[in-house]
Amino acid sequence: MSVALDIAALGARAQAMIEELGAISASPDHLTRFFLTPEHRRAADLVGRWMREAGLEVSEDALGTVRGHWHPAGPDAPRLLIGSHIDTVADAGKYDGAMGVVLGILALQEIVRAGLSRPYGIDVLAFGDEEGTRFPTTLSSSAACAGVFQTASLNATDAQGVTLREAILAYGNATDDIPKAAYATGGVIAYVEAHIEQGPVLEAEGEPLGVVTAIAGASRLSVTVTGEAGHAGTVPMRMRRDALPGAAEMALAVERIAKADRHGMVATVGRMHIDPGSINVIPARVTFTVDLRSGSDMSRREALERFEREAHRIADQRHLGVVISAFHEVTTVPCYRDLQLRLRNAVADLGHRAPLLPSGAGHDGQAMVNLCPVGMLFVRCKGGISHNPAEYASPEDMGLAAAALIRFIERFQLPQLDGATDGAQN
Ligand code: GLV
Ligand code: MN
Ligand code: MN
Repeated sequence: MSVALDIAALGARAQAMIEELGAISASPDHLTRFFLTPEHRRAADLVGRWMREAGLEVSEDALGTVRGHWHPAGPDAPRLLIGSHIDTVADAGKYDGAMGVVLGILALQEIVRAGLSRPYGIDVLAFGDEEGTRFPTTLSSSAACAGVFQTASLNATDAQGVTLREAILAYGNATDDIPKAAYATGGVIAYVEAHIEQGPVLEAEGEPLGVVTAIAGASRLSVTVTGEAGHAGTVPMRMRRDALPGAAEMALAVERIAKADRHGMVATVGRMHIDPGSINVIPARVTFTVDLRSGSDMSRREALERFEREAHRIADQRHLGVVISAFHEVTTVPCYRDLQLRLRNAVADLGHRAPLLPSGAGHDGQAMVNLCPVGMLFVRCKGGISHNPAEYASPEDMGLAAAALIRFIERFQLPQLDGATDGAQN
């Protein structure tokens, strides 16, 4: 039996849901929805309501992941997981993460409505910490599901000094329940995520959907440069120990390192804090972040070593101190070849060719791979723009993506997966 598809209706519904979710924000002027905040709570409640309306049984774990369960073969049968995240960056677009959650719910709604039966169950997951914008944790909610949550990260603090432990309690959950969030190893068949591409490849190829070969590895660093505060009007230039020009030179160094790389490395200094931050005081301390990514783990590690050497050379030359600490490190995750094939076949059923492409952006699959094989479906986005309010995917493309997930589930008769990961990105 084949589920009847109304792609236009699926797309229109996806668009309406994304608008509704996108209106839940810390600010009326733009979309900012951080992990374990009141707006995360409201978004989780809305997603839970949608899941129930789709005919799913809803639960939530200690890290706030909302789970919609469909278990035609009983609650103990193996699970296929479909998900994405509902946290955002600051001043975000509406599609990053939210779209994958919405498409998962819509696909399951159609499957439930059609009365399909399977020897396995499906959970739709809405994670809360993919962006890592509130705490320096990143992927903590998917890590909890995968059973690799690091207890030490409960002590991580946000910009207000609130620890992750305190935020979990304030959200109404108990840290003692974190181990219960983990799926049993062997009880999960695969994790599949639909996400906007966040890059320009599909648009350039004129294709609405693509299949991901691998998710690029990433390192995130916190760099603290220390000098000495002084009067901006009296200390001669040659006698200063100004932390800011040192930090600026280090930011230029990491840019130079990434530009010289031949594996498409990208490096970003996205946050910089100057102390004491006064117009007439020489900066005593600058803290900045480095986000470094590459499809080659080896070149990423070499770049990190080079940056460390360069930062110390710059600091010594300027009589500054520098401390570098890594707070996030994920290796390149190849997507499971069998899932790539199944997703491509599902797209082919709809009359489209799904190009294969790597993901430069990070995804929850980087944590879920500790639990099970990972597959990703990309949806074309306008101009390749993401992490920007101008982010956009058309209702037509989203309708096709929901339809592809439905066809993927229909074809997913056997819980056994064949084949290995595609290691082409390493
Ligand atoms: C998440 O969007 C990331 O790649 O930083
Ligand atoms: Mn995302
Ligand atoms: Mn993102």
